[in-house]
Amino acid sequence: MTSSTAALVELGPDDARFPAWCGVWAASERADRPGQTPRPAADHVALGRQLVAPGGSRDGTHRAALVGDDVAGALRLILPLRDNPSMAVVDLAVHPDHRRRGVGRALHAEALRLAAAHGRTTLVADVDEPGEGAPGRRFASALGWTCDLEETRRDLLLPADEARLSAVEADARERSAGYHVLTWRDRTPEDLLGDRALLEQRMSTDAPHGDLPVEEERWDGARIREYEAGHVARGRTVLSAGAVVEGRLVAFTDLQVVLDQPERAHQGGTLVLREHRGHRLGALVKAAVLRRLAAELPEVRRVSTYNAETNTPMVAVNEALGFVPAGRLSCWSLRLG
Ligand SMILES: CC(C)(COP(=O)(O)OP(=O)(O)OC[C@H]1O[C@@H](n2cnc3c(N)ncnc32)[C@H](O)[C@@H]1OP(=O)(O)O)[C@@H](O)C(=O)NCCC(=O)NCCS
Repeated sequence: MTSSTAALVELGPDDARFPAWCGVWAASERADRPGQTPRPAADHVALGRQLVAPGGSRDGTHRAALVGDDVAGALRLILPLRDNPSMAVVDLAVHPDHRRRGVGRALHAEALRLAAAHGRTTLVADVDEPGEGAPGRRFASALGWTCDLEETRRDLLLPADEARLSAVEADARERSAGYHVLTWRDRTPEDLLGDRALLEQRMSTDAPHGDLPVEEERWDGARIREYEAGHVARGRTVLSAGAVVEGRLVAFTDLQVVLDQPERAHQGGTLVLREHRGHRLGALVKAAVLRRLAAELPEVRRVSTYNAETNTPMVAVNEALGFVPAGRLSCWSLRLG
């Protein structure tokens, strides 16, 4: 095995080498998940701009590993600013042509150095695992990380089975008298913004996090607007459904679609406030957003969602709707010092 002689350079989203940096992610995703369209470069560029712009809720920095003139590896480090002050999120990929030569190890050492320089003591990272033996899992284990949470990816093929969807809706309606459901696209209605922020904050504590060292996030209406604008800037549209009682939004679900790649929708958050559970509101909002998706974006062929297996109520809703297992996502952490 040859060891890496990669040079590490900082680069921003407007750097001439940034397209090659984005190309590392695309090549990496193609190698690990053939048959699935990789995340578009424009998404990395827009996210990169958000992370380096002042005033946002997250900072970020990018490094490229160069082997000769080739960008062989990519690192993005994200630093939350409004909460989780000791945490840094690591995203790291190595081009398949340059793997097993220490490029990943070099970028990892750089991530540790940068995190420490920003006063961060805990690193977290996600590893996509389409099948057994994913390189990311081997890499994270070899470098001393701990797997804190495993989620199953489930996919629903569209168009959804009408009989199933109607049965889920009928059951949900029967159990949710007094609540009404509404949908929106890209922008939460102004009068529900504060409630939407509370729901997002609860996502950070109520969705199963396993042993992940994450603290409660701080959300307000302004941060929801930043989040929404961020999706639009990244070329995505977000379809949402919510349940309302006495004028308060008490449940929501989001589906994100990359407009250039409309064949697949990604499930964002879904949450029912604790005090409103037991009324099938999760099923109600998920069915509603699938109806709106079919009406507005019929070109979407698949919805992907990730859940911890311990999240029995959410998994049950997804299975009732017809979602089937399609791989895993694991969440890892490393404590510094
Ligand atoms: C994971 C990844 C970054 C590794 O990059 P790399 O440059 O090949 O990693 P390195 O050569 O520095 O490997 C470091 C150690 O990790 C382990 N490792 C890495 N890939 C491995 C694999 N395919 N099988 C077994 N062990 C592996 C080994 O212990 C290796 O040390 P060794 O080569 O001395 O045995 C790369 O495979 C990748 O981009 N995967 C997809 C994205 C991803 O999962 N990123 C990690 C989560 S943020």
